[in-house]
Amino acid sequence: MAGIRFEHVEKTYDNGVTVIPDLNLEIKDKEFVVLVGPSGCGKSTTLRMIAGLESISDGELYIGDRVVNDVAPKNRDIAMVFQSYALYPHMTVYKNMAFALELRKTPKDVIDKKVREAAKILELEPYLDRKPKALSGGQRQRVALGRAMVRDPQVFLLDEPLSNLDAKLRTEMRSQISSLHQRLQTTFVYVTHDQTEAMTMGDRICVMKDGIIQQFDTPQELYNNPANMFVAGFIGSPQMNFMSAKVEKAGSGYLLIADTAKVPVSDEKFASYVGKEVVLGVRPEDLHIEENALAKAGDAVLNAHIDLDEMMGSEIYLYFNIQGSKMIARIPSKYQVRLGDDVKLAIDTDKIHVFDKDTEEIIYQ
Ligand SMILES: Nc1ncnc2c1ncn2[C@@H]1O[C@H](COP(=O)(O)OP(=O)(O)OP(=O)(O)O)[C@@H](O)[C@H]1O
Ligand SMILES: [Mg+2]
Repeated sequence: MAGIRFEHVEKTYDNGVTVIPDLNLEIKDKEFVVLVGPSGCGKSTTLRMIAGLESISDGELYIGDRVVNDVAPKNRDIAMVFQSYALYPHMTVYKNMAFALELRKTPKDVIDKKVREAAKILELEPYLDRKPKALSGGQRQRVALGRAMVRDPQVFLLDEPLSNLDAKLRTEMRSQISSLHQRLQTTFVYVTHDQTEAMTMGDRICVMKDGIIQQFDTPQELYNNPANMFVAGFIGSPQMNFMSAKVEKAGSGYLLIADTAKVPVSDEKFASYVGKEVVLGVRPEDLHIEENALAKAGDAVLNAHIDLDEMMGSEIYLYFNIQGSKMIARIPSKYQVRLGDDVKLAIDTDKIHVFDKDTEEIIYQ
C-alpha cells in the first residue's frame, strides 16, 4: 500500500514542449483518485510518470516514502491497465492473467491460486480456457483488470479503461471497478475525460487543464463549490449555464442583472464590481418552472423562448438562449413544455455561482 506525491514535477518532452509545468499533487494511500480534463491536458503523461513509462524532467515523485524518479517501472510495484487492454491474443484468459507471474518465476500453485481468486472476483471463471477473441468487450476489460490484480500491486493505474465499451457496459464496469477498489484497499489512479465516470468513481477528482491542476477535491465539493468557470463547466451534466450579468447597488445590497432576471446578493465582495459585468452561473437543475419556485424567486426569473426540447423520461431538457448564451433547464416531464413555447424559469438564488469575467475565478457562491 502506498500514497503518491508529486513535488514540483515538470515534464518537458524531447521536442522541447513543456506539458506539465509544475505539478504538486498528493494522493493518499488507498484513495481512488480520478484525473479528468480535456484531451491533451496531460492526464496520460501524469499517469505514465507514476508508472515510470515517462521520465520526469524536474522535481520529485514519491511512491510511499521513496523517491522513484530513477526507479525502473518493474521495481515500482504498480500495475497499469490501458484503454486498449493489450491482451495476448494467442493465450487463454488463464494464461493472460498468469503470464506476468510466470515471468517472475512465481510457483505454479501460487499462480493458480491468484488467477482463480481474481477470476472469481471478476466473474471470469467460466471463460478461463477461452482466447480473448471469443470474449465480449466487457469480459476482455475484466481480463485486463485481472491481469493487473494478480500482481497485488501497491498502486493501480487505469488510463481510460472503459472508453472502448458501450454505454451500458461502461456503467456496469464502473461499479465493478469501484467495488474492486473497496475490496482490494489499494491506491487507484484513474484517468478519464468523462465527468460522469469521475463523479461516480472518485474519492477525489483532480481537474486538469493545460497541465495545471484547476481543483482537486471531492465530487460534492467540485459540484457545489467550483473554483473557476472551467471546473464549473466541466463538472455536472448538462453543463452549468453562464450568463453575463451587470452588478448594481440596490439598498444595502446588490443586484445581478442578467437579461430580465434580477438576482439580489448581499455579499460585500460585489462592492468593487458595481457598474461592471460578471458571469452568473446557474446549473440546469437550479432553474425551476414550478409556481411556488417562481413566487419565491421574485424578480430572479428568466423569460425563455424554447428552441428545443429533449424528453429524457422523468425530465425534459429545455434549450433556449439568453443574450446569445446557450442555456439548458431540466424540468420534470409532467410539465409539457415544447419547442416554440415561452416560459418563465425561476433561478434558485441559493445555488448561484458568480465568476470574475476576466480571471474566470469564483467570486461568490
Ligand atoms: N511523446 C511525446 N512527445 C511530445 N509530446 C507529447 C508526447 N506524448 C504526449 N505529448 C503531448 O503532451 C500533451 C499531453 O498529452 P497526454 O497524452 O498526457 O494528454 P491526455 O490528457 O492524456 O489526452 P487524451 O485525453 O487525449 O488522452 C499533448 O499536447 C500531447 O500532444
Ligand atoms: Mg490520454
